[in-house]
Amino acid sequence: MQPPPIRHEWITDDGSRVTIRPIQPEDREIERAFVSGLSSNSKYFRFFSAIEELSPQMLDRFTQVDYPREMALIATVQSESAELEIGVARYAPGGFENSAEFAVVVADDWQGRGIARELLRHLFNVAEDSGFKRIEGIVLRANKNMLLLCRDLGFTISRYPDDAGLVCVRKELKTTETNTQRTI
Ligand SMILES: CC(C)(COP(=O)(O)OP(=O)(O)OC[C@H]1O[C@@H](n2cnc3c(N)ncnc32)[C@H](O)[C@@H]1OP(=O)(O)O)[C@@H](O)C(=O)NCCC(=O)NCCS
Repeated sequence: MQPPPIRHEWITDDGSRVTIRPIQPEDREIERAFVSGLSSNSKYFRFFSAIEELSPQMLDRFTQVDYPREMALIATVQSESAELEIGVARYAPGGFENSAEFAVVVADDWQGRGIARELLRHLFNVAEDSGFKRIEGIVLRANKNMLLLCRDLGFTISRYPDDAGLVCVRKELKTTETNTQRTI
């Protein structure tokens, strides 16, 4: 399936030109390189385990997105000769009706420059336009940066049942009527 025609160009405060767009099957290699290049800490915070590389099955799963039921937006920059992935935010239907589960990760060298905030802003707009009413996720309690970001974005944070090392983050999205008003 073709991805929706989403493309945002954005200049960071330090002058880098970043493109935000849906991931596609052709992005397999930049997605592999992106995850492979993350620090152990970032990989652990994102995947909750000490993975080295994405398996071929995970690469399929991450680059073959069932739009608009699911979405994955990547942030890229242009290096000398190639496009480089520097972040990705995704959602898929969650455990409850009208609820989407999300995750985000930014390349270590690019953290602290507003990339996650911008990716999530666009991702949540897509989720709202696709009819989701709630966005939720699971975050390691030790992941202070992610919890600061979630608080800042208006998420409520609650205990995860049966695992003191995890927390649930949850945010209500706008209603469909509001979406219609916003997109016109
Ligand atoms: C958590 C993570 C996604 C944040 O990405 P980022 O691009 O660095 O975040 P941003 O620059 O957009 O920061 C947005 C807000 O998050 C908070 N924040 C992020 N990093 C922070 C840091 N190092 N110190 C303090 N606050 C921080 C702040 O509230 C910040 O707002 P501000 O810039 O106005 O102060 C990134 O650190 C990451 O990829 N971590 C590893 C993977 C992970 O933890 N994923 C989450 C699992 S769902």
